[in-house]
Amino acid sequence: MKTETPQPIHLTDYRPVPYLIDSVDLDFQLHPDATQVRARLSLRPNPASTTNNAPLVLDGEKIVLQSLVLDGALLQPSQYRVGEQSLTIANVPAAPFTLEIVTTCNPAANTELSGLYVSGGVFCTQCEAEGFRRITYFLDRPDVMARYTVRMEAERASVPVLLSNGNPREDGLIGGTTRHYAVWDDPFPKPSYLFALVAGDLGAVHDTFTTMSGRDVSLGIYVLKGNEDRCAWAMESLKESMRWDERRFGREYDLDVFNIVAVPDFNMGAMENKGLNVFNDKYILANPETATDADYVNIEAIIAHEYFHNWTGNRITCRDWFQLCLKEGLTVFRDQEFTSDLRSRAVKRISDVKTLRARQFPEDNGPLAHPPRPSAYIEINNFYTPTVYEKGAEICRMMLTLIGEQAFRKAMDLYFARHDGEAASVEQFVACMSDASGRDLSQFFTWYTQAGTPSVTAEGHYDAASKQYTLTLEQQVKPTPGQEQKQPLHIPLGIGLVGPDGADMPLDLDGVGTLNTPLIELRDQRQTFRFNNVAKRPVLSLNRGFSAPVKMEATLAMADELFLMGHDSDSFNRWEAGQRLGRKLVLDAYRGTAAEADVAAYAAALKKIIDDPAVDDAFKALMLVLPSEGEIAAALGAEVDTDKVHGARDGLRTALAAHLDGELGAIWQRTGEPGPYRPDPASTARRGLRQAALALMVMGNAKRGIALALAEFEAAHNMSAEMGALAALMQVDCPERETALDRFHARHAHEHLLIDKWLMLNAQAQGPNAAARIEALTRHPDFRWTTPNKVYALLSGFVGGNPAGFNAEDGSGYRVIADAIIRLDAINPQVASRLATGFRSCKLLNSSRKSAAQAELARILAEPSLSRDVFEIVSKIAGS
Ligand code: BES
Ligand code: ZN
Repeated sequence: MKTETPQPIHLTDYRPVPYLIDSVDLDFQLHPDATQVRARLSLRPNPASTTNNAPLVLDGEKIVLQSLVLDGALLQPSQYRVGEQSLTIANVPAAPFTLEIVTTCNPAANTELSGLYVSGGVFCTQCEAEGFRRITYFLDRPDVMARYTVRMEAERASVPVLLSNGNPREDGLIGGTTRHYAVWDDPFPKPSYLFALVAGDLGAVHDTFTTMSGRDVSLGIYVLKGNEDRCAWAMESLKESMRWDERRFGREYDLDVFNIVAVPDFNMGAMENKGLNVFNDKYILANPETATDADYVNIEAIIAHEYFHNWTGNRITCRDWFQLCLKEGLTVFRDQEFTSDLRSRAVKRISDVKTLRARQFPEDNGPLAHPPRPSAYIEINNFYTPTVYEKGAEICRMMLTLIGEQAFRKAMDLYFARHDGEAASVEQFVACMSDASGRDLSQFFTWYTQAGTPSVTAEGHYDAASKQYTLTLEQQVKPTPGQEQKQPLHIPLGIGLVGPDGADMPLDLDGVGTLNTPLIELRDQRQTFRFNNVAKRPVLSLNRGFSAPVKMEATLAMADELFLMGHDSDSFNRWEAGQRLGRKLVLDAYRGTAAEADVAAYAAALKKIIDDPAVDDAFKALMLVLPSEGEIAAALGAEVDTDKVHGARDGLRTALAAHLDGELGAIWQRTGEPGPYRPDPASTARRGLRQAALALMVMGNAKRGIALALAEFEAAHNMSAEMGALAALMQVDCPERETALDRFHARHAHEHLLIDKWLMLNAQAQGPNAAARIEALTRHPDFRWTTPNKVYALLSGFVGGNPAGFNAEDGSGYRVIADAIIRLDAINPQVASRLATGFRSCKLLNSSRKSAAQAELARILAEPSLSRDVFEIVSKIAGS
């Protein structure tokens, strides 16, 4: 580490900033290795600040100060102080003043991809959360909102396209030189993290959108030359997003232009800069030969997400970074709703819950647990987490469930009316929800401030004589780091009492009467609900639609689970019953207590679903997938042997495939591609089912399955089919899969996004020596440490997609990842730190694995100049 231990920043230390910045004029002289930035800032003392005549302390990092002029007078070095991370001017006027700052930076040398950098020969910026301070000295915090104009100058030949936020104002040539310039104006005040500049030799596609009030907006998608014919899907998705936000939330776009740029080097997925969204190119570029169904769905959702930030994030931004879930949780909720409205709501809900369980539950269950609104951080970049994003979205969804569709819309309208143009807090958002609905949400607020996933136990008792059904619920949250004591939460639980014929019975709640909405609210630690006039013994279906992000510890008999799996009118809970049964059977196999009759019964229930023509293909595909190895490990809770988990799960899959042989064959027969590739929901569902079936067939009968997968791979006319076949092959250690991987590489060597897919497939290859394969691939000429997508494909793909390989008992998986973290930390700390979170569940493991992991964590911590990013994550995991 650096000389001192990095210190945390606390929410309780928030103070209004002493100075405000009303306007910013930026002037860029763009050169790859020496760009000059002239910033003219109009400042004034903040009337809301409690400190008078405070020194002006501007944030700044990795930039070189050239000159400083205050109200027209050049400042002498004695009048200011330049530190590693700041510029301090002790004496500034107590009235409005201007400051002109000239700095230089080196975009070509910027491997952290934060601030101004060069990607694919294109200048681009990434400022969230704290990258603007690498461009100029500034009050780089989200509650400082200013109007920006941007002028930039660059070589005409090599940098023909000059883009920034807002609307274009003017452009032209610089007489007597080879350079040209452009000026952009953003009329909306914004925080510095939403600033963006892109300049380079880009190709573009254009379109227009007419807003609900009849204004024409010109839309542009900019890509590296040669990729123009892969932007159509992104453009359609953008227009769908703009239409949807008008229809569902009454939100209209507010500038004359909306531009998107796709670049190959990007730390995250995409960024919502005002009027100029910047994307990782894997979330823009698509055609049937290079993009899978999952890619099409992702592109649509991420374009929507960034576009929706224009209102939830940009027009109303965050007061400070502790409020991150105000914009991210809400915007994830909005993009989930968008996908639900466009595609299948049930399927979207199930896949979101799968993501939550795969990413957020493990986080909440380990050393990195934190509340959706954290109270302290060392490095803010470490808090773009599944908890802030996905649990944050679940909290918004629970408020919708509690107050209802109409009140929720009213609350959102109120939020936009009340806080437009402001930097708001989570409290202010929730106040809109309670003001619009009249509901007291004070206990509910604890969801934002308390970490950990609640578990809810349900015990039902039916009394045939009185026709009463009594349901006793109990909630509990285990302690998390820094939060020993937990408060009971306000938990909305969707509920159904399913009668013997499969129909829901009326819900006549004692003391309340017939429920209009099938919902109960658990508020106490232990609470009893009595239902009257229950004609027959019901089967309890609780937390329908996954109304709350909790672990349900229901103790239904196997027969009742099978009944729900076949009959629950709530399709989420139908799937959920299947998951609970599947988990039980894997755990039985792990413990050596498996009963053949149980497996047969489960297979029979699956058979009925597959044979039911009324059930859609996407749902069938989801039913065919057992809970992940990570979920099984979490259910075991301690002393986990990951090889045994893998073996138990695959063993069950082999048995199921044998039982379902006829059904899988029938699926295969009827799901071939009937014509040209189309990414519509029905075709996507058909291909998804085909791939789920193939994956099982390979497990059931390896020889036949491998032959089928190879034939599918060779005949494939689209990337979905190609990847589906290869993914199925990665499950078994066989020579055929190596041949197929080589063939894939040879076919697609020229296409960087497909090389990423090839790396990802390699990472997921099952079998011994997985770590050695990874290590070898880091030395392959196609792998690049400086490109985040390569690291995510190979190394994150290994950690997340190959739990048996990563957790190999000899520690080889941990070693290769620890080596990578150390190496990456010097290049790009954000990427290194994300990789390090892969160790977060190591305390669940058996002692040999645990100590191997601990040794690697200690080795990382012993590195002499660790970033704050990696230090925070690794020290939290190692110290737990
Ligand atoms: N604002 C974020 C991008 C971001 C995150 C920038 C962290 C800087 C630091 C953006 O809106 C976002 O959330 N992107 C997601 C994808 C989205 C669909 C959830 C991402 O990049 O992963
Ligand atoms: Zn976002």
